[in-house]
Amino acid sequence: MKILFVGDVFGKPGRRALREWLPAYRKRRKIDFVIVNAENSAGGKGVTRSTSAEIFDSGADVLSGGNHTFYHRDATELLIGDPRILRPANYPPELPGRGDGVYEVADGKKVAVLNLIGRAFMRPLDCPFRMGKALAERLLEETPILIVDFHAEATSEKVAMAHWLDGMATAVIGTHTHIPTADARVSAGGTAAITDVGMSGPYDSVIGVKTAIILDQLIVMKQVRHETAKGDVHICGLLVELHADTGRAIRVEAVREPEFATERPGHADETDAADGTDDD
Ligand SMILES: [Fe+2]
Ligand SMILES: [Fe+2]
Repeated sequence: MKILFVGDVFGKPGRRALREWLPAYRKRRKIDFVIVNAENSAGGKGVTRSTSAEIFDSGADVLSGGNHTFYHRDATELLIGDPRILRPANYPPELPGRGDGVYEVADGKKVAVLNLIGRAFMRPLDCPFRMGKALAERLLEETPILIVDFHAEATSEKVAMAHWLDGMATAVIGTHTHIPTADARVSAGGTAAITDVGMSGPYDSVIGVKTAIILDQLIVMKQVRHETAKGDVHICGLLVELHADTGRAIRVEAVREPEFATERPGHADETDAADGTDDD
């Protein structure tokens, strides 16, 4: 079985890129189940009825969330009404919505999805480790396939969570920083992990927001309104191949569509003249 996780879809550029890319990719790679983090899908903050509908139409099965999920007013009603849209499980129990779910895949298998949020450099919420393990144990009674979205700031906290749920979860996937890390891996216990899967949105930006606005905020200390950037859009995700009967991950692949540029665009015209070498 193959499960694809797509990192934080950011605003209209992220939604458009997903719509153009996911249907064909899902078909070509024969993907059985798709989870998309949608916490930034509406103007860079939050999820709404229309952005969630658009992401489902693009081929997602479940949407996970994070600290921005409730930014727009209609998120509350949306999360109460649709069990396919999650928010972190370790938010207070009075908050509407749910943090986990078990979903049927086409061939009758079931996939459990658990959404947790971290505490390092974030709000002081219930312990994601204690709650995460208790919920994982409950979910594993229903299916051996468990995908965890751990929405957290600190690499240390996310790596610790991958160890904490090692051998229990099929995958522990970090979200929230919007910058992909290079550590996609599978443990001997059969748990795939990545510290941060990265954003699906415009990278000519500061984590999705127009660069000039964030520089004003950081350097001049201006009160600013964030606006979604446009350029250099990439989809970032994690493709997990697993044994459907045991829930153990077999293979993992970081998805970056397109790959990030590691050469200066157009440099071929100037390289040789500038340094006198003949390599291009
Ligand atoms: Fe995010
Ligand atoms: Fe976030």
